[in-house]
Parts: sequence; C-alpha cells; structure tokens
Amino acid sequence: MTAAGERDTLFMRAARGEQTSRAPIWFMRQAGRHLAEYRVLKEQYGFERMVHTPELAAEVTLQPVRRYKLDAAILFSDIMTPLASMGVEVRFNPGPVLAEPLRSERQVEGLIVPDAGEIAPFVMRTLGMVRKALANEAVSVIGFAGAPLTLATYLVEGSGSKNFEGFRAFLGAAPRVAHQLLAKLTEVTILYLGAQIEAGAEAVQLFDTWAGLHDEPTYRAFGLPYNTRVLKALEHFGVPRIFLAVGASQLQRAIAGLPCEVISVDWRMPLAEARSCFPGRSLQGNLDPAALFAPPEVLAVRAREVLLAGLGGGHIFNLGHGLFRDTAPDQVMRLVEAVRGFDREKENQGV
Ligand code: CP3
Repeated sequence: MTAAGERDTLFMRAARGEQTSRAPIWFMRQAGRHLAEYRVLKEQYGFERMVHTPELAAEVTLQPVRRYKLDAAILFSDIMTPLASMGVEVRFNPGPVLAEPLRSERQVEGLIVPDAGEIAPFVMRTLGMVRKALANEAVSVIGFAGAPLTLATYLVEGSGSKNFEGFRAFLGAAPRVAHQLLAKLTEVTILYLGAQIEAGAEAVQLFDTWAGLHDEPTYRAFGLPYNTRVLKALEHFGVPRIFLAVGASQLQRAIAGLPCEVISVDWRMPLAEARSCFPGRSLQGNLDPAALFAPPEVLAVRAREVLLAGLGGGHIFNLGHGLFRDTAPDQVMRLVEAVRGFDREKENQGV
C-alpha cells in the first residue's frame, strides 16, 4: 500500500506513467465467450443472471486472471447495467436490445436519476468479492462504465446497428432532447463510477465505443463535454482514469484534452503516433485482436512491434479492442508469455 492506500502493482505504476520493467497486461473482453469455463456457466445461468449474481460475476471476472496470470481484472458486467435503475429495460441478444427505443422528450423526461445506492448494487458486491479474492495478489481491479454518448447510441437506436443512422439523425433533429438525455446519463455515470471506486475498483475505464461514428464538431458538442464532466468528477478519488474511443482517429485532438491518466488506443492508430498526440499520458493497447488468429510466429512479431512502440512512457499492454469470441486460449497464453518476456529496460537501452 502507498500512503494514499493504493496497492503498488505493476498495473498501477504503468497507469501512473512509470516506465515499468515490463508492460502489465490485461485484455478487453477477457472474461467471456472465448473461455470454455465461461460458456459452461453461461449455459447454466445466462448472461444477465451472471451479471446480477455477485458470486457468479466475481467468478467470471476471475476466470481469465487465473488462467492467464493477468495484471488486472475487469469487472464482469456490461455498459448497459446501470440503465435499469433509470427505468430502462434492456435485454441481450447477444448485444443490447431495448424494449422501447428512446426518442421523445417525454421519454427522456421520464428517465430516473437514482441515488448512488440504487444503481446496480450487485455490481458493488461483485467488486468487493473480487477485491477480497485478489487481496494477496498483485492484480488490480478495474471498474468501468459506458460513456454517455455511447449509452445514448444504444438507447436511441434501440439495439446495435452497422451505421446507427437513427441515432445520428436524432442528434441533428433533436439536439435539445439529446443534451437532456446526455446530461442525465452523465449524472448517473458519475454516481455509478464513484460507487464502484468506493466498493473497491482501483482504476476505472470509460468506454466510448461509438465515438468514432461522429465528426469532430459533433463529438465536441455531444461527446466531449460529458466525458470531461464524468472524468473530472472522479478526480478527487485519485484512481487512474482510462479512456477508450474506438475508430476515432479523427477525434484525437478533442480527446487529447480529456482529464485522464491513461488513453486506450485502438488498433488503427500507431502507438508511436499516440505518444505524440497524448503527451504525459500512459498508453494502453493496442494489438489488433485479429492478430490472435495469425500463426504463433506472426503473433509474436506483431506483439513485439506493439511493445517496442510502447517504449518511451507508461504502457499497459492490451488489444486495440475486445477479444473475439472465437479466439483460441492457447494463442492468448502465447501472447501473455511474449509480453511477460519482453524486458522494457533492456530494449530501451538497445534503441
Ligand atoms: O471486458 C470484459 O471482460 C468485461 C466484461 C464486459 C462485457 N461488456 C461483457 C459482455 C465489458 C467491459 C463490456 C462493455 C460493453 N458492452 C461495451 C464496451 C466495450 C466495447 O466492446 O467497446 C459495449 C459496446 C457493450 C454492449 C454489448 N454487450 C455488446 C455489443 C454485446 C454483444 C457482444 C458480442 O460480442 O456479441 C454485449 C453483450 C456482452 N457483454 C457479452 C459479454 C461477455 C456477451 C454475452 C454472451 O455471453 O452472450
């Protein structure tokens, strides 16, 4: 523990910008369908029941950590989880599907902004259980939430979509209602992430998965101010804040101003370029998750390229987005071994 009560792990040091001797490693979507041990539980209980049952959610959170000896555990849940407390009904098939998409002012006005204690209390119990299970291990626990704009994307569109044209049209047609919606989602996200930190999350990641749908002016109007509000409101907790936008190279200048310690970089943007775009931040990423389908020797080369590009600042190894469900666990294990075997101090002297 440090003076502030923070556990001193490799993940924490890298998140704080330290040039660690090796890069800590975890994966987005590390818990889930690529693991046989997950599929067994899913078969028995179903996704939603697992998320709502702390014993099961904690078990699924820990599965990949045990199997791969990762440096961080990410809470097993979903970005849509807190929305039930706002009065929104969401099902999964396999992605989120809403009984009733939100489009009208009346619907947005009807959304509840609950007290912190009413937002997914089972998540807080899960985090407590995960922290307890990892109390004697140097594995950090990451909480997360969806960015307001990404949550609004699903709420308005009603489900996943290739182009989300319904949502994009809505922003243009009803900007006032959109801002009302985003403001409510922002309030709830602040309360939700704060509760996660109080329940034991040692870092938090804000997923702006659908940021890349927008041009810069639209993102500056509807995305950035709300992300800034969320991240700023968490500052006093002193935990590392990780921000991810997917497919959003056109938004880098906007994103560079966000108050966070770590930028998670998607696979399309070279890490070396991200270093200059985001000075003073730690970088997380950014191997293309499809690289795990390449032959082992190709995977090793690709991993090494990412590790070399990550030298020169804090680097948390991860993928550029989530693991695909058909990924072979053997390949994931090979990747973990390659990352653990990469000595950043030695390589730094060599370049
Ligand atoms: O990363 C992890 O291991 C933690 C668990 C996690 C899930 N969802 C579990 C899940 C996290 C961090 C999320 C966040 C999430 N959910 C995001 C942001 C991350 C990203 O991918 O950018 C988004 C956009 C969602 C919405 C969502 N939920 C989608 C699109 C889907 C379908 C996913 C798919 O691969 O088909 C879900 C369902 C979901 N969330 C599953 C899991 C393990 C699949 C459920 C199943 O087993 O059927």
